[in-house]
Amino acid sequence: MLHTRRIALLLSVFALILTAAAQTPAPRPAAAQRAPQAPPPAWMNTSLGPDARADLVIHEMTIDEKIQLVHGIGWGVLRKGAYVPPEDIGGAGFVPGIPRLRIPDINLADSAVGVRMAAFRGRYATALPSALGMAASWDPKAAFLYGDVIGRELRAQGYNMSIGGGMDLVREPRNGRNFEYSSEDPILAGTITGQLAAGVQSNQIMGDIKHYAFNDQETGRNFINATIDERAARETDLLAYQIALSIAHPAGVMCSYNRVNSDYSCENDFLLNQVLKHDWKFDGFVLSDWGGTHSTVKAALNGLDMDQHGDDNFFSDPLKQAVLSGQVPQSRLDDMVHRILRSMFATGAIDHPPVPSVLDPFKGRDDAQHIEEESIVLLKNAAQKTGATILPLTTTTRTIALIGGHADVGVLSGGGSSQVDSPGGNVVNPHPGSANWGEHVYMPSSPMREMQQLEPAARITYDPGTDLTAAAKAARAAQVAIVFATQWESEGQDSATLSLPDNQDDLIAAVAAANPNTIVVLETGNPVSMPWAKNVKGILEAWFPGIGGGQALANVLFGRVNPSGKLPVTFPASDSDLPHPQIAGLTPQTTNNGGGARAGRNQPRNLSVDYNLEGMAVGYRWFQMKKIQPLFAFGSGLSYTHFTYSNLHVDPAAKSVTFTLRNTGRRAGDEVAQVYITLPSSAGEPFRKLAAWKRISLAPGASQTVEIPLDSLTLSIYSTDTHAWLRPEGDFLVEAGGSSADLPLHQSLHLTGQ
Ligand code: BGC
Repeated sequence: MLHTRRIALLLSVFALILTAAAQTPAPRPAAAQRAPQAPPPAWMNTSLGPDARADLVIHEMTIDEKIQLVHGIGWGVLRKGAYVPPEDIGGAGFVPGIPRLRIPDINLADSAVGVRMAAFRGRYATALPSALGMAASWDPKAAFLYGDVIGRELRAQGYNMSIGGGMDLVREPRNGRNFEYSSEDPILAGTITGQLAAGVQSNQIMGDIKHYAFNDQETGRNFINATIDERAARETDLLAYQIALSIAHPAGVMCSYNRVNSDYSCENDFLLNQVLKHDWKFDGFVLSDWGGTHSTVKAALNGLDMDQHGDDNFFSDPLKQAVLSGQVPQSRLDDMVHRILRSMFATGAIDHPPVPSVLDPFKGRDDAQHIEEESIVLLKNAAQKTGATILPLTTTTRTIALIGGHADVGVLSGGGSSQVDSPGGNVVNPHPGSANWGEHVYMPSSPMREMQQLEPAARITYDPGTDLTAAAKAARAAQVAIVFATQWESEGQDSATLSLPDNQDDLIAAVAAANPNTIVVLETGNPVSMPWAKNVKGILEAWFPGIGGGQALANVLFGRVNPSGKLPVTFPASDSDLPHPQIAGLTPQTTNNGGGARAGRNQPRNLSVDYNLEGMAVGYRWFQMKKIQPLFAFGSGLSYTHFTYSNLHVDPAAKSVTFTLRNTGRRAGDEVAQVYITLPSSAGEPFRKLAAWKRISLAPGASQTVEIPLDSLTLSIYSTDTHAWLRPEGDFLVEAGGSSADLPLHQSLHLTGQ
């Protein structure tokens, strides 16, 4: 079977290669090759550091060449009829190089969950699971692999910079872009996105993280003002960036559309100059979100280094004039250029330019599947009448009714600028070319087909779930019913509520009433509420599962893979439990802001969102502080085996935590063991915070002494008096266990201030 599938895939790949060969213009010689064959200039000496090399180039540059490097002329392919230079290979961004100085073009492609716009050139890319899904693995290695897939496929398509690395915190669980981000917790988010960006850059591709900062909802994104105090900012969203930057040292940080404490992010002195460049010593460049620049002089002085996509011309001739008139010092323009060039040298984008090649679809699909298998979260697994849990399904289950979610043909993906074109395109609505904005794209990875291949003897049926009576009838006729519930999310819009859309709550209730052995598989971009949770036996959160999603789901359902994902976000029971029960500014008119960068630019600018309401208490911290029981807690997730925790020891200097983990069940499994710290009450943070974790594989019956280092940051608060992190004196509570709501081990410890 597998063999047949591989041959089929191979044939479609050959077909695509032929199409690609026919459609793709012959690659233009690299800029470096077009230059006259003179001895290599001094900056091509690879024994020099990137800063020295950048300075040597800048010394030779004219002001026009410098201006050329600090603004994009991209997005052409999306603007029908616009002139597109032949060197622009079709991504969202293009910055022409300077051939006489051997500086190559910068071709940037959106690549939050895989490389976008591939079909535009007759190609495709690996659709990875959503970034939020991948974060549910809590596995830095999976995050690195995720970035590595993106980096190698960017390279294969001729791009030398990624536009991805979604780093905004999941502060608002209905944010339409959360599937591009990784967690509500800053340490988990920063670690995962940092590893992702490091994986991209391991391919000598310039990496990026975005959207800096507080672009935590899409409603009104082009003008909304996020207000937040400095300490809360530093200990939440900014901490995530700080950690990611320290791991990846990415070439770029994209500033966001919104305003933060009144100033647009892309001209925000506090965010760009003070925090990013001064405090964190970021030496890459700040690029604007597409159309996110609002001025020339202010943006240049306040830290923006590259205007994308450049159509507003803030950083073209107006910047040149501002430099010539002294409004923007020459040294500032040189600094922008230096940051861009040093990043190109540091990542290898100049010394190792990408070579277009055919990417390996099997490797991409296998990697996507592996990541998804680590990311599926088993939320509920109740016993059937027999006493055995509903999952994994066994060979005694002869009849299975799959209902809804196009589970017969594919798995859902998220929309917007992160949309990936997979082989064959949208399996529920095939058409040539890239996916259209707003299209609900299903990846060709059929859960039904994969389940049938794993269990040929089982009778597996499919009902679309559009008619409740028919769905209930199908469910009644089978031993087990599995509803595939979907929640499409996209850039440019938020979900108005946590509820599943399209009456799927009613569908699940009808199926559960018809069959006591009902399982729900969720393919959602965000946490959803589940009024039916008590009435179903099993719940799996599969996120947007990616191109290996069908196989991964089949493997988990049939127990070939033991689920090990843990929630990187809280699943609230209802909207009213959230700090912002309604999304700021969301009305029936603004639900869909459209995708365009300029969407809503002409709407009233007085929209703001007050993040001081929850302040530092983002996500699970809010629920603990307010003593609200969530539906499913941050960090939770079940396994087909059981783990026990014992023997906690915290070293007196709080440098590490040690405990024993035992697999007491009958299956091998991975556990994500978590450590939380509650600071002394003087810190004014009445909640536990994730401090560290480790993913550990254990054979049945095996146990292991687990040692996890503690970073001093996790014992500290940000002092706005001293502008530094400091450790308060007092009693710290250290807890360890398998979820933020299940922490069997605890120890308090008195520490002096530092
Ligand atoms: C999005 C960015 C994206 C850019 C280019 C913007 O609208 O916010 O995330 O990288 O477009 O497509």
